[in-house]
Amino acid sequence: MSLKRNVLDLRKRKEIALKGGGEEAIKKQAAMGKLTARERIEAILDKDSFHEYDMFVEHQAKDFDMDKKVFHGDGVIIGTGTIYGEPICIYAQDFTVAGGSLGLMHARKISKIMDHALKMHVPLVGINDSGGARIQEGVDSLAGYGDIFFRNTQASGVIPQLSVILGPCAGGAVYSPALTDFVFVVDNISKMFITGPEVVKTVLGEEISMEELGGARVHSEISGNAHFFALNEQECFEQIKKLLTFIPWSNRVKARPFPPKEPKTKLYNIEKIVPSDPTQPYDVRDVIRAVADDSDFLEVQQSFARNIVVGFGRILGETIGFVANQPRVMAGVLDCDSSDKAGRFIRFCDAFNIPLVTFEDMPGYLPGTEQEYMGVIRHGAKVLYAYSEATVPKITVILRKAYGGGYIAMNSRHLKADFMFAWPTAEIAVMGPEGAANIIFRKEIMSSPNPEETRKAKVAEYREKFANPYVAASKGYIDSVIEPSETRKILIHSIEVSSNKTVMTPAKKHGIPPF
Ligand code: HXC
Repeated sequence: MSLKRNVLDLRKRKEIALKGGGEEAIKKQAAMGKLTARERIEAILDKDSFHEYDMFVEHQAKDFDMDKKVFHGDGVIIGTGTIYGEPICIYAQDFTVAGGSLGLMHARKISKIMDHALKMHVPLVGINDSGGARIQEGVDSLAGYGDIFFRNTQASGVIPQLSVILGPCAGGAVYSPALTDFVFVVDNISKMFITGPEVVKTVLGEEISMEELGGARVHSEISGNAHFFALNEQECFEQIKKLLTFIPWSNRVKARPFPPKEPKTKLYNIEKIVPSDPTQPYDVRDVIRAVADDSDFLEVQQSFARNIVVGFGRILGETIGFVANQPRVMAGVLDCDSSDKAGRFIRFCDAFNIPLVTFEDMPGYLPGTEQEYMGVIRHGAKVLYAYSEATVPKITVILRKAYGGGYIAMNSRHLKADFMFAWPTAEIAVMGPEGAANIIFRKEIMSSPNPEETRKAKVAEYREKFANPYVAASKGYIDSVIEPSETRKILIHSIEVSSNKTVMTPAKKHGIPPF
């Protein structure tokens, strides 16, 4: 064959492969409001940057008449491309081909691109849209999942791994996203569950729709399995790209610096955000926006465990991981879910060289049987572990309340914070003045001719003595009591001073965090 005919033959083969599951299946996909796998990849990557591999891979199965069926690319597209000019690895399951079901060759393709990502030290983006293990391929499909889970774990903490759920992701398939760093979901499109509605009905007699069982809102608001929620695919792709501007490409490098920009102080005036009355709520995200470059803050898990806020911003162009109690939701207490949320975020930042800034205003851990039975001891310990283990620069600013276990947990000096600052409104004590006075002055209050008056006097006495930053400052637990208006300046300085921070940690294979 001449070169020309060879090239024409190649083009024809590509044309057929590019049709995926065929026109009907593509129409069905569009009717569900979903893009095709290749359209999704193109929408995420820089224009014309995608290079596809394994386009001609086909399944090798024979049972159940599989030898008579052709699945182009075996239902998954893999390749490399760029986002903002930087290389990434990507795969997208193609639901138009056998429902994106995962057989041996499909899994091998995903494993191949994962191996590339790890070897090349570039992020991995995985788009999930699949009926799960390909039933006809039996144990080979299960083996394929195992191979992927192993690679997710190996890559954890080395390269960022992003999972995008754009269709069904059922059964054991959910565990690949669960092992990755960030999970993106889209309203009415993403469906994630271990067992679908049919099984739930059979086993529990419970009737529930796919959406109610494992829709995007469920995982964004209730289970906490998802980190970013979007109303449509395009919004989801924008979120992916925005996140990638904040995080580093691997654990060997820092995030790309951005040109520094002053915060929008007219919108976020730091002196007017926090009410001095410790019982009054406010939105701590405004404090973050008041100190972050351009007031730009990308919140992670925005709708889950809203009593804590985590996310990325920049200070003088450098990416910062912000962790902040949210006084307007349950007074910002730490509970099981908020501990999980914070612990995981802190560990991501630490693994990827992102300095941590913590804003503290909270009354402690949430009491009660519900939390105790759910394991608030075990979950709460995750925050202590994550902060203690972290070796990136760690800076805390106490805005108002820092009570009890919360004071210690929120990156205290005792967990080796590098810099501890407090506003003059800070109250650092074992517990709030009301509770403290009721306990330590109980006898005096009870025996007083006017218990209510005495109680008020004792509360005031306790507040005067302990509910301030100066006792902690007198012991060197707080490095500096600062005015709110000085916060950004001191953060800039602390981050600059910490830029060459080195920490010796005890030799060990790995720690055993309270998972
Ligand atoms: C083989 C599959 C498949 C699968 C879908 N298809 N899932 N083929 N194995 N797991 C095929 C269908 O036969 C159909 O082929 C095409 O994909 C499209 O599927 P439809 O059912 O027509 O689409 P839709 O109505 O949109 O329903 C999508 C669905 C449903 C909800 C995902 O297909 C479904 O329930 N599939 C099975 C889900 C499941 O139970 N998977 C196994 C989970 S257990 P044709 O030829 O008709 O177009 C698991 C274990 C992993 O994954 C464990 C790892 C540790």
